[in-house]
Amino acid sequence: MSAPEQASGIVGFAQPVAAPLTRAAIFLVVTLKPGSEHRRTVRSLCGDLATIMRAVEFRDIEAGLSCVVGFGSDAWDRLFGAPRPVELHVFREIHADTRHAVSTPGDLLFHIRAKRMDLCFELATQIMARIGHAVSPEDEVHGFRYFDDRDLIGFVDGTENPRGQEAVGAVLVGEEDPNFAGGSYVIVQKYLHDMDGWNALSSEEQERIIGRKKLSDIELDDSAKPTSAHSALTTIIEDGKEIKILRDNMPFGRASQGEFGTYFIGYSRSPRTIEQMLENMFIGRPAGNYDRLLNFSRAVTGSLFFVPSAPFLEVVAEDQPAVADTSAAPTVIEPSPSERREADGSLDIGSLKGEISHE
Ligand code: HEM
Repeated sequence: MSAPEQASGIVGFAQPVAAPLTRAAIFLVVTLKPGSEHRRTVRSLCGDLATIMRAVEFRDIEAGLSCVVGFGSDAWDRLFGAPRPVELHVFREIHADTRHAVSTPGDLLFHIRAKRMDLCFELATQIMARIGHAVSPEDEVHGFRYFDDRDLIGFVDGTENPRGQEAVGAVLVGEEDPNFAGGSYVIVQKYLHDMDGWNALSSEEQERIIGRKKLSDIELDDSAKPTSAHSALTTIIEDGKEIKILRDNMPFGRASQGEFGTYFIGYSRSPRTIEQMLENMFIGRPAGNYDRLLNFSRAVTGSLFFVPSAPFLEVVAEDQPAVADTSAAPTVIEPSPSERREADGSLDIGSLKGEISHE
């Protein structure tokens, strides 16, 4: 099979991570309450999510409703056991001087997008009607698209996103982790801006911080672009090749509360790429040459999730493991440490793997 054929095969069963940018989005992060009953509730949603999604989507098929669900590291162990996506771990916080990329709780992320907020809201409502009693809300942000696709600091956001096949190669796991091909890693961070401080800068100073012209969105010449520019520090080159991620940042806020924010969401084939960008931004490249955007933007959340393929979700039964082991013999699933902690006499010990094979 040729590489493009292979790639389009993977896309066919990926969740819609590379869905087109939309006018509205809801970012919903929840944690799973302890107990096998709650675990069963969430597992049963996995199998039904596509059906719920289709019912809401059909109310305005033109509105491009989509939903991506991701799972945090601890939740993965509790919900699915082994095997696990090889690079899934809890979001690692970064501290450098006064800059802090916080790590905050999050077991499930729902990234809901559509042209209309009412559809996003309806889907979030239907999801919570199913799992509300089994989870605790951590964060819910309603994002909107601002003039010319700008963020609230006034710059066009999303220009350098990869498109088409390049996006697929950037975000979808492939043969490096065959059990989870077609999946993706996603990091979210909610940033709050100091708008008074930012607006006190001249446009030229702001442009040197971002690395692009404010009005035209044209990239600054290398001679004019500082090495600390946001777009410089988030450019990752490995073996002469640029490693891209896919972002769908959204502005959000509450004018009366003085809250002005950017919800950062980045999908990637490996979380390492986004982590490297964060290290460059917060610590600096080299250390100390950090992203001045952080003088005016504070991260108040930070979590990492794995987004499994759509077929993986569809076969999750209420209380059985979801993924086939690639080895021939069926294997007994051991409960994770957190599963043992919450043991209440009805653990999945002894369940057999063997539902689907991602080949
Ligand atoms: C306060 C939050 C943030 C804001 C307001 C912001 C804004 C922007 C803007 C305006 C651009 C230039 C246009 C574009 O190519 O999209 C950009 C580029 C980019 N940003 Fe951010 N960003 C934020 C956080 C982040 C974070 C946390 C990461 C990754 C960890 C990131 C990764 C990138 C990347 C990869 C580019 C493209 C660089 C290039 O190839 O030129 N951004 N961002």
